[in-house]
Amino acid sequence: MKNQLIIFDTTLRDGEQSPGASLSVSEKVEIAKQLEKLNVDVIEAGFPVSSPEQFDAVERIANEVGVTVAGLARAKEIDIKSAYDAIKNGEKKRIHTFSSTSDYHILGKFGDDRYGKTLADKRETILKMSYDMVKYAKTFVDDVEFSAEDAGRTDMNYLVEVIEAAIEAGATTINIPDTTGYTMPKEFGEKIAYLKAKVKNIEDAIISVHCHNDLGLAVANSIAGIENGARQVEVTVNGIGERAGNASLEEIVMALKVRKDIFDIESKIETTEIINTSKLVSGYTGIIIQPNKAIVGENAFAHESGIHQDGMLKNRETYEIMTPESVGVQKTKIVLGRHSGRHGLKARLDELGYPMTTEELKKIYKLFTNLADKKKEVYDDDLRILMGDTKKTTESIYDLKYMHVFAGSSTIPTATVRIKADGKIMEDSSTGDGPVDALFNAIDRALNKKPTVESYRVRSVTAGREALGEVAVRIRKDGRSYTGVGVSTDIIEASGKAYIQAINKKERYERRVKLQDEEVIKVEI
Ligand code: KIV
Ligand code: ZN
Repeated sequence: MKNQLIIFDTTLRDGEQSPGASLSVSEKVEIAKQLEKLNVDVIEAGFPVSSPEQFDAVERIANEVGVTVAGLARAKEIDIKSAYDAIKNGEKKRIHTFSSTSDYHILGKFGDDRYGKTLADKRETILKMSYDMVKYAKTFVDDVEFSAEDAGRTDMNYLVEVIEAAIEAGATTINIPDTTGYTMPKEFGEKIAYLKAKVKNIEDAIISVHCHNDLGLAVANSIAGIENGARQVEVTVNGIGERAGNASLEEIVMALKVRKDIFDIESKIETTEIINTSKLVSGYTGIIIQPNKAIVGENAFAHESGIHQDGMLKNRETYEIMTPESVGVQKTKIVLGRHSGRHGLKARLDELGYPMTTEELKKIYKLFTNLADKKKEVYDDDLRILMGDTKKTTESIYDLKYMHVFAGSSTIPTATVRIKADGKIMEDSSTGDGPVDALFNAIDRALNKKPTVESYRVRSVTAGREALGEVAVRIRKDGRSYTGVGVSTDIIEASGKAYIQAINKKERYERRVKLQDEEVIKVEI
């Protein structure tokens, strides 16, 4: 029997810290349910003290899924209590608390003299705080994880001391984050081996690794950690996360599976659910997957050159180290059309991870037949988009009721919109440099807002002229980014939907912040 690797998924916490990736509570719950299907061991569902919405999401996920749910908490009583309150009714619960241990972080975050006058004093304070707060977390749950933030740049002797203290206080998992993505694989592996050798009570805890991708090494570093004794790995779906992201779940899982000849360890991930999960996360976060992304990119299993195609036809293994089916890519495409009935649609949605009530199915079926009228052939990716789109409109503050855009080679592009907001109807018109610009200007005028458009991207969801066009718009306001995604067979309409969704996310965030008290707003990692 091989050793088991614990897969700790932090898509909903660290992943959600990607610029523009904010998710609503119900989107998070849906992703958590899909992560359960994927069979991850732990879901880090959020950072409960940081906002009421984060708290709600962690609480709902803890109540609705059967896997271990972790809530993040700084080494502070208020955070730990809030994390516990959020997960307390869950079946399996974990408090994940962390302290900063590198000198960069200690001097940057604990500069205040009340933490000690010298660096040595401050280190002492943090060590004591870590010990005390793990003990405090243990008063609520047995399963406590401790992370030494920026361990990758932490003095190793000090790191050994902090870890020993955390284990003595009762931590059952010790996480070693390479918070800034600074280390090299050999170096990171050696750090894990060193801790395994030097930390006196290390056998009482599981070593975990948590790597960021600033130098493109998050997966390589995580694997080096596993090779040297880590038995938990912290990952995100599609590798999303702060800055260049986190180690990608699918890459690590498939590396261990494909190279099982050299690894004495395996995960219990249901790999055929990888594509469904990846698409769900991409759809809800608005973070489009690069085509050449390993495992889940559109081109990951495409063989373009004649030589490769010829080799593949003779023997798949010539150029294929894993089958597309092993990660959930369908061999035969299932196509629905305008003659497909409710039963067929429900069965397909079930398989894609969208269980439906009869009431929900009624609504979706109507949208499906509209789409099938326009598109004739409806593929899985179209259905995923349809599902995502439905969710967005049911959670909107602003609802784009009507749009009319007039453009051509010798006319001034002009747009008129009607938007329902807080029970009122707003209408306005505007011109622009092109039809999309005119449309965005008209929406700005109607809502009396003008966010900066940071990026605008279009891609086709499936092949063919009638394909759905997916537009992702990222806007920025007051130092935060928000991404909206819209889909339609008409890319101008898709652009309007995407822009309105991004504005909805911004508005939701701003309204929430208004409700929070100052202390809570300041919470940041
Ligand atoms: O990167 C990091 O250090 C983190 C910790 C909070 C675990 O995300
Ligand atoms: Zn992180």
